[in-house]
Amino acid sequence: MARTIAVSGTASGIGRTLAGLLREQGDTVVGVDLRDADVCADLGGAEGRSHAVAQVLDLCGGTLDAVVACAGVSDFTELPVKVNYFGVAALMEGLRPALARAEAPRAAVVGSIAGTHPVDEEIVRACLAGDEPAALDAAAKAVAEGGGHKTYPSSKAALARWMRRASVTPEWAGEGIPLNAVAPGVVRTPMSAPLFEDEAMLKVMNEAVRMPLNGYAGPEVIAEALRWLVSPANTHMTGQVVYVDGGAEATLRGPDVF
Ligand code: NAI
Repeated sequence: MARTIAVSGTASGIGRTLAGLLREQGDTVVGVDLRDADVCADLGGAEGRSHAVAQVLDLCGGTLDAVVACAGVSDFTELPVKVNYFGVAALMEGLRPALARAEAPRAAVVGSIAGTHPVDEEIVRACLAGDEPAALDAAAKAVAEGGGHKTYPSSKAALARWMRRASVTPEWAGEGIPLNAVAPGVVRTPMSAPLFEDEAMLKVMNEAVRMPLNGYAGPEVIAEALRWLVSPANTHMTGQVVYVDGGAEATLRGPDVF
């Protein structure tokens, strides 16, 4: 059965690969990105987010079979908080009513192994309170105090917590919409390319994200996991952060999280 699926981040990396896989299997993809997409919008700000939601709704005729939020940024500024948390939450919440109209709706977001790294709890708290100005103030403070490396992990930890909280509510589970996250380790995409060009950064990354199973992944590995999560086959998995990370999370957190 052909389905209509909104995917953000389709101009590059994981989102682009996922869009290709879905189109290959006959689905209609409505891609959202800054450029080179069906809907060009900046998910880092309120205006772009509203524009993205309105345009996707227009293009899909008000009903969506699935939404996958892949768009994201990784740097040491406040930007990850804007794009990775508020951009994703706004897109998912804005498109949820269109999912609720579908017969077998599905939703997924892309988190990160970085969500298990040390975070700035003030940023995470403000994100989960839906207070973007406070979250950006906390992020600016972290950056000014030398904690810029915490803004990306904080955005991804907050996103995972948002997803878990929302997944079991009447709006998501009650409407029959599974909502999950895939959390990659290191994936070879344009986002990670600069790391591979900097020996010192690569060393830091290899220590922070150990991947004993098959090493770095290609974007197709993450796209395949997302494809399954938003397939009709996924009737009962919800609220899960699925680490597709070559064993990084199991190495970092060990067996005692269960
Ligand atoms: P990428 O850089 O290849 O693709 C990200 C896409 O998001 C780009 O097309 C970009 O234009 C779009 N985007 C960025 N800011 C945007 C904005 N404000 N509005 C709309 N679109 C915007 O990166 P990749 O690797 O494909 O990343 C996809 C997701 O995977 C991200 O959420 C990232 O945080 C996550 N991730 C990536 C890892 C990696 O090693 N590459 C590891 C863990 C998580």
